[in-house]
Amino acid sequence: MEHRALIIGASSGMGAAVVRNLAAAGVHTAALDLPSASWPKDFPADYHGGIDVTDPENVHDAFDQAVQALGGIEIVVNCAGILGPVQPTHDSAQDSFERIVRVNLGGAYAVTREALTRLVPLGYGRIIHIASIAGKEGNPQMASYSASKAGVIGLVKATGREYAESGVTVNAIAPASIDTPLLKGMSAERRVVQQSLIPMGRFGTVEELAALVRYIASPEASFTTGFVYDMSGGRAVY
Ligand SMILES: NC(=O)c1ccc[n+]([C@@H]2O[C@H](COP(=O)([O-])OP(=O)(O)OC[C@H]3O[C@@H](n4cnc5c(N)ncnc54)[C@H](O)[C@@H]3O)[C@@H](O)[C@H]2O)c1
Repeated sequence: MEHRALIIGASSGMGAAVVRNLAAAGVHTAALDLPSASWPKDFPADYHGGIDVTDPENVHDAFDQAVQALGGIEIVVNCAGILGPVQPTHDSAQDSFERIVRVNLGGAYAVTREALTRLVPLGYGRIIHIASIAGKEGNPQMASYSASKAGVIGLVKATGREYAESGVTVNAIAPASIDTPLLKGMSAERRVVQQSLIPMGRFGTVEELAALVRYIASPEASFTTGFVYDMSGGRAVY
């Protein structure tokens, strides 16, 4: 694929795997993450830089720099996200809810706006967000996270349909638990519960996730927009 991709949340977990997968497929990549992020060794990105998805002006500037480095972009993959505390809702703080929604949903909104602004005039593009099965089913003790990811699903459905004739597709993936540093935010007992919910009896891998991203990002994935792809080892029933 002779395309250029901007990947956000790219220093870790799924984002790093997406960079590796797309780069191996011949895509030029700009990898963005929080300025405090440390980058893997031998990372194949053509460019890496800072971004904070909670700050729309910063998102704009970070896109500018990445686009300048690559000479343009056709693909935007947003893997930025936080889990937040796993605890009873009545013990959770309002601030915590607001922080999780700000990063996961507010960030997805800012990235979508910025990406559409740049891709719609080209008449071609692929925007991909990582939602979660928590946004479809609602994970107990993860109300804020689940609500933020349900919001991402709504955002993708709305913008996919709104821009359906533009040549730009907007889609999401809803993974069940995938083996990444994000799962360190759960207790060992909770990880066992999460795994038991997956009919395949195991967590997904970042390589499996990245392979699906590569397909959605490809020119061949041209008749699907506003859709939430499954990546759940059989857990999702819709
Ligand atoms: N791992 C799972 O089981 C799982 C399941 C479903 C969905 N997800 C979602 O997948 C996405 C990727 O998560 P992961 O599992 O690779 O976790 P991860 O913690 O390895 O990666 C998340 C990345 O997001 C970055 N990030 C956090 N806040 C940011 C901000 N304000 N601006 C820019 N970047 C920011 C982090 O620095 C990190 O590199 C997240 O949206 C997560 O909610 C994960």
